[in-house]
Amino acid sequence: MLRVNQAGEYGATRIYEGQLAVLRRNSPAAKLVARMAGQEKAHLDRFDALMSERGVRPTLLQPVWHAAGFALGAATALMSEEAAMACTEAVETEIDRHYARQLADLGGNDPELAADIEAFRADEIEHRDVARDAGAARAPAYPLLTAAIRAGCRLAIGLSKRI
Ligand SMILES: [Fe+2]
Ligand SMILES: [Fe+2]
Repeated sequence: MLRVNQAGEYGATRIYEGQLAVLRRNSPAAKLVARMAGQEKAHLDRFDALMSERGVRPTLLQPVWHAAGFALGAATALMSEEAAMACTEAVETEIDRHYARQLADLGGNDPELAADIEAFRADEIEHRDVARDAGAARAPAYPLLTAAIRAGCRLAIGLSKRI
């Protein structure tokens, strides 16, 4: 669980770095993204700490998520601000479901980890809603774009659990 979660939070920081590299500085979209990026960094730091505490190695796919995350963020931001928001909405929809499933699997085991996942899940849901409110659905080819990004997230989650 820690391995896949750390991979996801790492990917999230890279997506936002890619978007911020493209979005106009101080534009409304850039401000939204910068705030969310700060929260992803806090999520990542927490999972990094738990991983070293508990002796969990990171996914071997980290270099892939480093490049793919940034590319996804930059590509969507190049399309439009709305496409950048559609990216966040799609990613956070999958992360919400992923964290919900983990919480169900954990049950009463490991309340320390469960508390973190619960808190981060609330942040991700908020990110999803912020992106929705900022016009994600006005992105070009919104249904296709969203479906592709969500499929990519599911693939990334599946791979990061295994490798
Ligand atoms: Fe996060
Ligand atoms: Fe998030």
